[in-house]
Amino acid sequence: MKLFDVYPLLPVNIVRAEGAYVWDDRDNRYLDMYGGHAVISIGHNHPRWVERITSQLRKIAFYSNSVINTLQQELAERLGIMSGRPDYNLFLCNSGAEANENALKLASFYTGRKKVVAFTGAFHGRTSLAVSATDNRSYTAPVNETGNVVFLPFNDVAALQEYFGRHGREVAAVITEGIQGVGGIRIASGDFLAAIRELCDTYGAVFVADSVQCGYGRSGRFYSHDHGNVAADIYTMAKGMGNGFPVAGISIAPHIPARHGMLGTTFGGSHLACAAGIAVLEVMETEGLAGNALEMGAYLTTQLQDIKEIENVRGRGLMIGFDVPGALAPLKRHLLEHYRILTGEAAPNVIRLLPGLALSREEASVFVQALRSAVNDLTR
Ligand SMILES: Cc1ncc(COP(=O)(O)O)c(C=O)c1O
Repeated sequence: MKLFDVYPLLPVNIVRAEGAYVWDDRDNRYLDMYGGHAVISIGHNHPRWVERITSQLRKIAFYSNSVINTLQQELAERLGIMSGRPDYNLFLCNSGAEANENALKLASFYTGRKKVVAFTGAFHGRTSLAVSATDNRSYTAPVNETGNVVFLPFNDVAALQEYFGRHGREVAAVITEGIQGVGGIRIASGDFLAAIRELCDTYGAVFVADSVQCGYGRSGRFYSHDHGNVAADIYTMAKGMGNGFPVAGISIAPHIPARHGMLGTTFGGSHLACAAGIAVLEVMETEGLAGNALEMGAYLTTQLQDIKEIENVRGRGLMIGFDVPGALAPLKRHLLEHYRILTGEAAPNVIRLLPGLALSREEASVFVQALRSAVNDLTR
């Protein structure tokens, strides 16, 4: 059997990792400014994370959600405190798409309505409702086209008000990332987030904050929507939550009631997943990683703004993007092959930086130096 060929692959076989670095099968070391697509939060193979997972593995890896699992309760308590939402309730699942799927479904249960408002440039995952709310028609199959999702222009308060004025009472949920990732590192403005909050309150809709990529301290605040000083009704999270162990969740405001059977999953919140999730929160707290993301993000952004060949450097914390003009189109590949640095991209012509949140100033400087040299190589 061969692999179903859906991923364009970089020509590297990564076999080992530590901190901000990964190694290939020929023992070449790479600086990871991509974090395995924003997944690495506390650093590759952090010793506390390895220890928590391995000691849990020796006790029990999994039992179903039909029994008490105090590790889930511990994770929920820590997450409530760290995220500044101790009164919210946690539902655990396995991936970002599943988190968004459950959030939108819950909003529909709660309101009894069907319409979902999403925005241009949004990415919310590949499962049925999540992909319907994703603004890329090449990801949606005909079966995903339900007619229940409407796309409005991102960051356009007037368009949102106008839509709510006509259809507000049909809207179950408004879903938005605080910083669009796949969409090219586009920050939701404070006014836009405040308008979503106000309109959801006025019309009885649910505000879903997709924090799958931009959450978990990456922006320098626990949720990137916190920069707008508004509270969402449901936060969805995944990537950084397990530092590479598949764990995801939705944090649900206390006014949304639970009922047995309304949501469910076999694997979500397993003992092993909780051990990984607890280790991440412990390390984030003891090492002050959200603060480090803010500081290193500011440092990187200032340094990058000095490189005149790249354009429109933007982002928050360690979620940074910049535009690459045509002459620098091979930059990502050049950084990989000549400087052994992994970066991300977002179409069209955007390089995305999503490193682990423990990135040091020295590592950030190594990246900036390499980027300067790579730009020189390509423009000489
Ligand atoms: C903002 C956002 N939401 C949802 C998802 C989907 O997450 P997953 O791939 O874990 O299903 C992603 C993945 O890139 C994402 O960036």
